[in-house]
Amino acid sequence: MNRTIVLLAALVGTTAASVAGPVAPIALSRGCPASFALEQGRCRLHTPYQDYASLAGAGVGGLKAGLPAFRDGFTPAQIDLGRYLFFDPVLSATGQVACASCHRPGHGFADPRALSVGVGGHEVRRNAPSLWNVGFLQKLFWDGRAHSLEEQVQGPLYGEREMGTTPGKLEAALNAVAAYRDLFSQAFPGTQSIQSTQVYTALAAFESTLVSLNSRYDLYAHGVHDALTTPEIEGLNVFRSFVARCGECHTPPLFTNQQIAVIGMPEPRGHALDPGAGAVTGIPGLRGGFRVPSLRNVALSAPYGHAGQFATLRETVGFYTGGRGHAVPKGEHLQLHWHIWEPHLSAAELDRLVDFLATLTDQTFLPATPTAVPSGLPPAT
Ligand code: HEC
Ligand code: HEC
Repeated sequence: MNRTIVLLAALVGTTAASVAGPVAPIALSRGCPASFALEQGRCRLHTPYQDYASLAGAGVGGLKAGLPAFRDGFTPAQIDLGRYLFFDPVLSATGQVACASCHRPGHGFADPRALSVGVGGHEVRRNAPSLWNVGFLQKLFWDGRAHSLEEQVQGPLYGEREMGTTPGKLEAALNAVAAYRDLFSQAFPGTQSIQSTQVYTALAAFESTLVSLNSRYDLYAHGVHDALTTPEIEGLNVFRSFVARCGECHTPPLFTNQQIAVIGMPEPRGHALDPGAGAVTGIPGLRGGFRVPSLRNVALSAPYGHAGQFATLRETVGFYTGGRGHAVPKGEHLQLHWHIWEPHLSAAELDRLVDFLATLTDQTFLPATPTAVPSGLPPAT
């Protein structure tokens, strides 16, 4: 017995000594996060919405609408490695900015600052959106310019105002950390030297696990009628009414139809019009267009809009009843979406909408924030 303890202590001592930096050896998880099942070594999502798959794509949704295609199939080790990378500022040029600096777990993985701030204190042009349910999105960024998580992640990594690194610097920074060399060989067996593409895969793997489909609204959708209160059901009814038309674009169950819509939300004071998808696609009719954001966990992710123009949900929903085009700058002729109209919602109806939106809050599967990251730098929280 005693001998075993001594032996163990010696073993731990040797391993710790062979790892540079202050971080103890980390064994990556061998199991999938909650709501995923391990199938042939890979994590696959399981949700009751998959039983409604036959209705997917049926348009406006309804309570039992199915989900769009989902990005799963990563290994437990890749997902867990992605979690460390997400919180580690070693990924940025200055060692000070992590993904989690702008996508804060305590704020729905969004940024409480209207405009995010990256390396060197540079302000970026837009608000950092929530990352809950990004694994379902076919178009990423406010203007829909990226089409996979792996493509998207190169935006912040190499953006001068975000993390400001280059593929070469990123690989050098990670290969210099013994703990990362070990973790990458656990997640990608056979790794000789860490590649930037492995970083994209691991971050995508982690992001794909940010699934939020267990809110009180979901219970209601699955048939638990008393999961919502009377004012919340009134709010749901306003939301899906043909007068307010919210559900035409913010289609359940993700509360986005993933399309680009020109709705004419204002810019922050003093900012020129953000052309959004108009600039990306070159299509004049999409000037001022943005991908419809999901409203999952929206009560946690203030402020709202592509530039964080609105401080509260009440102000945001109030925009929709201000009159079609009321916030479009003079001289601009945006082709506003036909579902943006003049619903003349009362103050009470707007309050009920806010009540309803709060029923979409669900952080059951909030991943643990690491207390230490492999680089030994202070993790972002
Ligand atoms: C400096 C702040 C900042 C950092 C750091 C940052 N992001 Fe973002 N992120 C943003 C902003 C701002 C946007 C929206 C930009 C746009 O739409 O043009 C965004 C958008 C996204 C999106 C698209 C979400 C959607 O709904 O389309 C994903 C996914 C994402 N970031 C993941 C990451 C990951 C992973 C990292 C780390 C490698 C990261 N971000 C680092 C600010 C940041
Ligand atoms: C024509 C499609 C469309 C309709 C109808 C619509 N929205 Fe939106 N919604 C959008 C788009 C696009 C954005 C992003 C606009 C921007 O940032 O400039 C948005 C943004 C929002 C946001 C901010 C989300 C965030 O994370 O910042 C909320 C909240 C919201 N809508 C709620 C509603 C409600 C409530 C209604 C009904 C009264 C509604 N929407 C009707 C397309 C629509």
